[in-house]
Amino acid sequence: MANTSHIAKEGEIWAVGGGKGGTGKSFFTSSTGTQLAKKGRRVVLVDMDIGGANLHSFFGIGRPQKSLTSFFEAGSKLSDLTVGTELPNLSLITGDIHSIASDNIKFGQKLRLFRQIMKLNVQNVVIDLGAGSHANTLDTFLIADKMIVVIVPEVIAIENMYHFVKNTLFRKLKSTLKDYGFKEIVQHIWDRRQSYGIKNLKDLIEYLKASFSYIGTILDSELANFKIHIVVNMVRSNQDILLGASIKSVLNKFLGISILYSGYIEYNDVVWKAVRERKPFMLNYTATGCAKQVETIVDNIMHGREVSVPGG
Ligand SMILES: Nc1ncnc2c1ncn2[C@@H]1O[C@H](COP(=O)(O)OP(=O)(O)OP(=O)(O)O)[C@@H](O)[C@H]1O
Ligand SMILES: [Mg+2]
Repeated sequence: MANTSHIAKEGEIWAVGGGKGGTGKSFFTSSTGTQLAKKGRRVVLVDMDIGGANLHSFFGIGRPQKSLTSFFEAGSKLSDLTVGTELPNLSLITGDIHSIASDNIKFGQKLRLFRQIMKLNVQNVVIDLGAGSHANTLDTFLIADKMIVVIVPEVIAIENMYHFVKNTLFRKLKSTLKDYGFKEIVQHIWDRRQSYGIKNLKDLIEYLKASFSYIGTILDSELANFKIHIVVNMVRSNQDILLGASIKSVLNKFLGISILYSGYIEYNDVVWKAVRERKPFMLNYTATGCAKQVETIVDNIMHGREVSVPGG
């Protein structure tokens, strides 16, 4: 586990994950990055979907000239790998187009990558994560100042997202307590959770706090920043919109963490048509509901606000 908490970050890092494939993580990353750049911020997007990199396609870029492959295989500096977009203050570090498996990334490479992401001379970094809950994906999610999950109103997406968030929290818990010699103890208690009367991570955290008082203070301060921002994509009804609010209460109940329902984006064919036309969505379809909803979400995430839901 890469502990990078001591490294001062240049810009604010946002990471977009969620466990399930095809929920719109890359669409959301590209749109959010564009929106932040339109607001005048200097932004770099990083495609960390190792093996499935396609963020560049949302900018109409065919085969990128540079990619993370050079970072991993030739030791290139991350800041030398940016590819420009139509906006002068928005660039892109495209994914590893040679598809090295995420498993092959060595610990040292991961740490070097995280350090260099943190030192990118911009105001915002937005990281697009691949699907799944691979350890490298969780660790990348954990370096972010704003952790964003994109889900769609489907049972499997919600289940995957729950596991993704739960695994991220467990990893955070272990890496926090590792420095205090507690990592094995946490795993030991979790593996025998039934005999401890522990049903979920919230119970585990409460058990640790109650049993080891000095750990309680550490957990309180480390987990205070563990906030998840939820985006529900491809909504088609009011019921879909309300889903964000129910997911919020479920995550809070079982994991005991802060959840912010940042907003929703409606389903619109124009989203995938824009990719086919090679037109960046937030530069070409600004009048659509989807674009307005992305604007609202970006503002909400920036200011730690939540969306207002119909009847909510
Ligand atoms: N709101 C939306 N309305 C209609 N289509 C959408 C919407 N959001 C995303 N899409 C389309 O859904 C498909 C999947 O989106 P995207 O590639 O962003 O998902 P992803 O979560 O990054 O997937 P992966 O896990 O495979 O990387 C794309 O064709 C995209 O254009
Ligand atoms: Mg993607």
